[in-house]
Amino acid sequence: MNMLELIEKKRDGAILSKDEIQFFVDGVTHQTLPDYQISAFLMAVLFKGMNDQETTDFTLSMAHSGKICDLSDIPGVKVDKHSTGGVGDKVTPILLPIISSFGVPCVKLSGRGLGFTGGTIDKFESIQGFSTVVAPDSFKQHIEKCGMLLGGQTADLAPADKYLYAMRDVTGTVPSIPLIASSIMSKKIAGGADAIVLDVTCGNGAFMKDEESARELARRMIAIGKLAGKPVSVVMSSMQQPLGSMVGNVLEMLEVVDILRGEGPKDVLEVVLTMAAEMLRFTPVGKDSDVDTLKKACLEKISCGEAYEKFGDLILSQGGVLLSDGSPMFVERPYEVMTVYADRDGYVSKCNALDVGEASCLMGAGRMKKEDTIDMGAGVKLHKKIGDSVRRGDELYTLFVGSHADISEDRIDEALNKMEQAYEISSSQVLPQPEILDVIS
Ligand code: URA
Repeated sequence: MNMLELIEKKRDGAILSKDEIQFFVDGVTHQTLPDYQISAFLMAVLFKGMNDQETTDFTLSMAHSGKICDLSDIPGVKVDKHSTGGVGDKVTPILLPIISSFGVPCVKLSGRGLGFTGGTIDKFESIQGFSTVVAPDSFKQHIEKCGMLLGGQTADLAPADKYLYAMRDVTGTVPSIPLIASSIMSKKIAGGADAIVLDVTCGNGAFMKDEESARELARRMIAIGKLAGKPVSVVMSSMQQPLGSMVGNVLEMLEVVDILRGEGPKDVLEVVLTMAAEMLRFTPVGKDSDVDTLKKACLEKISCGEAYEKFGDLILSQGGVLLSDGSPMFVERPYEVMTVYADRDGYVSKCNALDVGEASCLMGAGRMKKEDTIDMGAGVKLHKKIGDSVRRGDELYTLFVGSHADISEDRIDEALNKMEQAYEISSSQVLPQPEILDVIS
């Protein structure tokens, strides 16, 4: 087999066999293919696509390019979750303790944030002492201790995807549905879960900007799951505006604490409960129940305090520090830089997630490059969201930095410009937006 022929075949729109796909993935994994041929192949896929069988073969080859986590010695059905990313997405730290409080084991391998989207690993690392480095051979021990674990993706988890993702990032080949679907699903399959629930975000702050492409991505990942023998359920959620009110690492974890204590924004709670119900439906706990009953049961886990207690167990289990009131001790404190007030009466008609994510990144909460360090205390608080009525002089948003921040006036001005661009106030009434667009199983 030769790589030039494979590139030409895909360029001409032909369907590749399992062996041909394996040849490409082997070449990436063992670094026997030059980067120019890898990029040419990725570009051919971007233009000509892949059918469901090719995408599944590609997914499985990438999943098997490294170690497959063996979770078989952890009893019970292991359900993993993943979000295609967004701004203010703090679903995982709330979801894990809820699911775990039903006795369902949770092994969650997460990533760091890059660009305007935040990463779950960074959010947990904003807790003093919390370690996200968990060796696969100690997964069982963590599950026995507190029923869940939150770890970073190890270097040997789908290494072919790791290399290809970095190549896609610099060759304009990220926005391809088969490439995104196979990238996500390869890591989920390598993570060893029995079933997978995906949050496919849709809107200006997500990979998928419109509902049609979000639906196609969802369909693809469900098809891969079917062909790979892993049941998949997709929750499609809106990312037209950030999820919740807080964007930034410590700020988002403070919102997590609020929600687990029965307070906090309802949009986050709705996504969490919908995801939780889908996850439980794959387990003996929820397989005979309807979604509304499961959502109610999850809400009960919050109101009785069990989920919050579980959150504390997770923190302690991974070396994190709790204060005497049971809340996490953070590595930084967010300090208010400035609050901006509404200059007229009306209704919020726009709160652009991408602009808010970029503003938060400019304040120091995100990385432009992988090597950048982040300011855990930085971010943005949104006092108003789409559909809210405002009076002139009401607080609209607040910018924060951490106590050790070294931020220039220019950076703050840039962030303020982004936030100004993010918001629109209309004189006519605007209806609040639904957070859940669909659930597809
Ligand atoms: N997340 C991934 O892991 N891969 C992609 O291609 C896009 C989002």
